[in-house]
Amino acid sequence: MGCYRVVQLVAIVSLVVLLPKTHAWGEEGHAIVCKIAQARLSTAAAAAVKKLLPKSANNDLASKCSWADSLRVVFPWSSALHFANTPDNACNYKNTRDCVDQKSGIKGRCVVSAISNYTNQLLEYGSETKSKYNLTQSLLFISHFMGDVHQPLHCGYASDRGGNDINVHWYRRKHNLHHVWDVSIIETEVERFYDDIDDLVNAIQKNITRAWADEVEEWENCRNDAISCPAIYASESAEDVCAWAYEGASEGSVLDDEYFLSRYPIVNLRLAQGGVRLAATLNRIFDSQSSMSM
Ligand SMILES: *[C@@H]1O[C@H](CO)[C@@H](O)[C@H](O)[C@H]1NC(C)=O
Ligand SMILES: *[C@@H]1O[C@H](CO)[C@@H](O)[C@H](O)[C@H]1NC(C)=O
Ligand SMILES: *[C@@H]1O[C@H](CO)[C@@H](O)[C@H](O)[C@H]1NC(C)=O
Ligand SMILES: [Zn+2]
Repeated sequence: MGCYRVVQLVAIVSLVVLLPKTHAWGEEGHAIVCKIAQARLSTAAAAAVKKLLPKSANNDLASKCSWADSLRVVFPWSSALHFANTPDNACNYKNTRDCVDQKSGIKGRCVVSAISNYTNQLLEYGSETKSKYNLTQSLLFISHFMGDVHQPLHCGYASDRGGNDINVHWYRRKHNLHHVWDVSIIETEVERFYDDIDDLVNAIQKNITRAWADEVEEWENCRNDAISCPAIYASESAEDVCAWAYEGASEGSVLDDEYFLSRYPIVNLRLAQGGVRLAATLNRIFDSQSSMSM
């Protein structure tokens, strides 16, 4: 086998091996969250994001929103930061119990602590002493993890690895339950109801300014003037995962219209909340920066 063939084979095998194991909204889910967020940034936050994004992004945050997923192999330490799993039937999230790297057992390593971590790093933006962190990476991590924490199965049960170990049929295709929530529901929704992803983004944005307008401020705010409050988002996901994701979906289930039609509104709501909260968090981070330097 020539070198090229080997590379090609390795690429195909790793795609096949890696894809079903991702712990994230698919690329599209993440892009939706980042598109919603970038359109809601304050002047200071928009300027900071533009400055921090790599040139290749062309000032489009959505284009780099899945960067953190592409790193899981290169930076194995980062893979525990995409989720926070609970005990079976907990239906709530507790920092001390659930924020732990399931593989190493090390506490304080999960999507919730990661969002706080990258919030703190970004607060160093614009300060006189140069941050020891790469703030471009901090921005890309927080933008990705804010999406992840809103995907209910990122706060699913540890015993089935957030639904990765539950095999179901999505209509006639075999998938695991995690993949259904990362990708399949959004894909089926776009196929049935929209021209493309941007069309879906527009529809979600319309609801943010109309149907959900009265709730948006509550989504945005954190208690006690905190800059970010990811534990609340994880708790919501842990509730949703019991009420909507695991409900009616066990090993071997066939999930079709009955499941799809009652779940896609939940997915839309979580994507909307993820986008609104990513923007609110970045606005708090960078607005506090610009007021400090004045
Ligand atoms: C915080 O960020 C640094 C830099 O990316 C990383 O090394 C560390 O593992 C992160 N910790 C958590 C809990 O996110
Ligand atoms: C920061 O991280 C980005 C994305 O990985 C990379 O392109 C850039 O070169 C890094 N910057 C520095 C100064 O290392
Ligand atoms: C927008 O809100 C309406 C009314 O609640 C709902 O029927 C529709 O599915 C929502 N669309 C999206 C994209 O969220
Ligand atoms: Zn992820």
